Amino acid sequence: MKLFACVSYFAPLVLCAACGSKSPATTTTTPTPTATVVLPDVAFDKLDHDQRIEFMKQKVMPAMEPLFKQHDAKMFADFGCKTCHGKGAETGHFDMPNAELPKLDIADMSKFKKEDLEWMAKDIKPTMAKLVQQAEWTPDNPKGFGCAECHTLVQPPK
Ligand code: HEC
Ligand code: HEC
Repeated sequence: MKLFACVSYFAPLVLCAACGSKSPATTTTTPTPTATVVLPDVAFDKLDHDQRIEFMKQKVMPAMEPLFKQHDAKMFADFGCKTCHGKGAETGHFDMPNAELPKLDIADMSKFKKEDLEWMAKDIKPTMAKLVQQAEWTPDNPKGFGCAECHTLVQPPK
């Protein structure tokens, strides 16, 4: 009897709260479908465009974010797609290499800091190569995954 009184007292309150809600959309929220996308276990280049985006979200971001933040937490505080892909990421353009990244002059890298070069060579390049399941660039494997996958290069003068 007491319980019933309680329910009937509160029920209109709850209803009113729902009616008064300024954003009816919140009552029909559905879970984001992307959260359930299952990626096929194939190399990155076998994925279609949507799967590539999903792969970047599920695999690349969690693996790479700490590597950037450990190197410079301040500079990479808002690490995101645009850190690697540049402004294009905002409009859905993810072409690599990204000309907004520092241009590398393989013949003379002296303008860069040694610790930055080591961080790239020992952390970023190998981790990214592994993620996209490609062998790393070496002189014997010039088609391998190298710095030029992300950075554009200054063409060496002839
Ligand atoms: C750590 C750097 C990095 C970050 C961060 C990153 N990407 Fe990428 N992304 C790459 C690289 C490198 C490639 C090229 C891989 C290849 O082709 O082997 C790529 C490729 C892509 C491609 C395929 C492009 C094509 O030509 O088919 C898409 C789409 C993409 N990224 C979307 C995203 C999205 C969306 C995010 C954020 C959720 C993101 N990326 C974050 C490095 C990054
Ligand atoms: C997965 C993509 C990716 C690969 C592969 C990669 N880099 Fe980078 N690199 C970046 C990003 C992103 C930054 C940060 C750019 C920024 O926001 O300043 C960066 C920064 C750098 C910087 C610091 C530049 C500066 O003055 O701040 C150097 C130097 C550099 N990379 C060299 C290299 C070299 C050399 C290689 C190959 C051994 C390489 N990178 C491979 C994405 C990449």
